[in-house]
Amino acid sequence: AAPVTLFTEQLPALAELGVLDMQGGGSTSLSMINASHFFHQQMGRTPTLAYRQAGSSQTYLGPVIIARKGTPFDLTVHNGIQDGHPLGFAVDGELVPAGSDDANAPRTSLHLHGGNTSPGSDGGPLQVFRPGASYTYHYSNNQDAAGLWYHDHALGITRLNVYAGLAGGYLLRDTPGPGGTGIDTGDGTHLPPPPYEVPLIIQDRMFNPDGSLAYPPNPDLLGADGNPRPWAPEFFGDVATVNGKCWPDLEVARGKYRFRVFNGSNARFYDLKFVAGGSALVFHQIGSDGGLLNAPVRLNRLVIGPGERADIVLDFAGLPAGSRIVLRNSAPVPYPDGPVSVRRGGVPLPDIMQFTVASQTGYTVPLPASLRPQPITSLRDKPTAATRSMTLVEVVDANGIPVMALLNNRMFGSPDITAVKSDTLEQWELINTTVDAHPIHLHFTQFQVLNRQRFDAGAYLAATGYTDPVSGLVVPGQGNAVPVDPFLIGRPKNAPAGEQGWKDTVVALPGEVTRIRVPFGAEAAGGAPLAIGESFKGEYVWHCHVLEHEDNDMMQRYVIE
Ligand code: C2O
Ligand code: CU
Repeated sequence: AAPVTLFTEQLPALAELGVLDMQGGGSTSLSMINASHFFHQQMGRTPTLAYRQAGSSQTYLGPVIIARKGTPFDLTVHNGIQDGHPLGFAVDGELVPAGSDDANAPRTSLHLHGGNTSPGSDGGPLQVFRPGASYTYHYSNNQDAAGLWYHDHALGITRLNVYAGLAGGYLLRDTPGPGGTGIDTGDGTHLPPPPYEVPLIIQDRMFNPDGSLAYPPNPDLLGADGNPRPWAPEFFGDVATVNGKCWPDLEVARGKYRFRVFNGSNARFYDLKFVAGGSALVFHQIGSDGGLLNAPVRLNRLVIGPGERADIVLDFAGLPAGSRIVLRNSAPVPYPDGPVSVRRGGVPLPDIMQFTVASQTGYTVPLPASLRPQPITSLRDKPTAATRSMTLVEVVDANGIPVMALLNNRMFGSPDITAVKSDTLEQWELINTTVDAHPIHLHFTQFQVLNRQRFDAGAYLAATGYTDPVSGLVVPGQGNAVPVDPFLIGRPKNAPAGEQGWKDTVVALPGEVTRIRVPFGAEAAGGAPLAIGESFKGEYVWHCHVLEHEDNDMMQRYVIE
């Protein structure tokens, strides 16, 4: 653990890269670089990776890209990582393509998470480029205003590239005035604008005494060379960082703040409360992954899985100057039931950051009662072209040690991929046979959570499981072929209010079927407006956003035809 004091670092304002007003589509660029970053004044510099814009001194993460709905631009990303990977020691030779030299010359790829992008600009796991090379992505921004994010996605080392710093926020704003709702402009008319709008990128990290990032090997799993493999089922750090600082403090005015919360952690879920003097403050969730909700939802806790975002408004007006509010986390690790073995039980992380109330008054405009001029199109009663049973499976070896996780029992390289039809709506049933929650993410689209229902995972596995005679691996479930219906328990429950908006990542809880309604194109709801504005054909991926799972091997391609 880093021996540093809590709440003594100031929350840094993240650098911004504004591409709001590019007329007719401009272009901009970022370089991925080796850097060294101060996570805390009491620690040495930490070797990191960062996305740096020309003329900036970014040493961790990337700038928050501020884009406008309907204003396209090109982003050229250069791989300038010339000094090797700061986590090169953790590259697992069994997970990367043969001949990769990722420790010295890391492959990279940039994915705009939540973006309605064409296949060529998706930045998927195979669209990789090496040091010295560049790649240009086109973002048409033809989708609802939302808090998206971008991060690395290179096959087999995504967890290491993101962990070292390759991630950043992307705030897509709406157009003010005629033609746009004007609601999400951040111009102070409805919702707290900057500086009262603050992105919070939450990531757990672990540091060695010299300040370098730690990424412990897995003592339970030996590699071909007889040494512990550098891959473990989940990484859980013992230090909370927000915007690249350990346990920071933010001084706030007495008024409303809009926090754009990003869970940018590898594997950690958070169950968050804003605690002042022993009680949890009420706040409002106003948006989910893909944009604003219909109306603010009153909450006093927020559960957020890796890859998910929440847009929330918290009012500090009623608190006396000098009050301290701690953002507390009570999520068990792994989520939601805690350790299944002592070794897998990562450390809890009870404190995330602090807010200190200053004496001046800030933004006090009342929160609008409704957030959209037109309510979100409900996909609940729209006709679907297909219902698919999709299994989430953990694979263990003969000793019961988890060795990988799969979707539909297929390795990533499987040629047997799901084909969907363009401009149709599908229902996907995410059947979680494992003991942990998995945040499931689909590229290209924004979907809706229909409901969740318990099922008898033991009986489902017994009916469908087998032991692979060659590998000796217990490989339960046949995926696509086995519907869960005979094994269902009780009644489905609707998604909670904070999830009744557009989502690109959904938490699939263990022993539950999570049903989602997924549009595969702009016309999938028969002309009713969706969060996404464009149809594309081609190949994308869907995967678990626990980065250790995604890298081994809980990711599948799917194709839109
Ligand atoms: Cu945020 Cu495919 O990932
Ligand atoms: Cu997972």
